Amino acid sequence: MSVDRDALMALARRASALAYAPYSKFHVGAALAFADGRMLAAANVENASYGLTLCAETVAAASALQGGLASPLVAVAIVGGAPGPDGIALAGHAPVTPCGRCRQVLHELAVLGGTDPLIWGDSGFEARLSELLPHAFGPASL
Ligand code: THU
Repeated sequence: MSVDRDALMALARRASALAYAPYSKFHVGAALAFADGRMLAAANVENASYGLTLCAETVAAASALQGGLASPLVAVAIVGGAPGPDGIALAGHAPVTPCGRCRQVLHELAVLGGTDPLIWGDSGFEARLSELLPHAFGPASL
């Protein structure tokens, strides 16, 4: 199935307003699109113990699983930047690609649904998850 890239990017951008990022002041929104047409978005959640920060992609993936979303993951849109007055990440930032941990977290969802999701970012960025995380560790590795 094809996903509306603009709609998924817009959802990610809106979600960036939900960021709890008092330390980095870098608001990230991530939106997931599933084969059944559903979409879900989340933002980063920081912590005074900096290393405990949860990236937007990880919050979104956990939220999908907690919400019982078992449909194959087809695409992920990620947007990040300094917030404007409404908390939404300002446009024009370089593409935000998922950090290493988030690549692994997204890989779990990809394996669950048997897909290789598209990863979209600003400035036309597009890659398959398998390009960002080749030779990934997964359930079959256990
Ligand atoms: N961050 C994300 O939420 N996703 C990414 O892909 C990269 C980084 C967050 C973590 C932290 O709250 C802030 O961006 C700065 O690193």
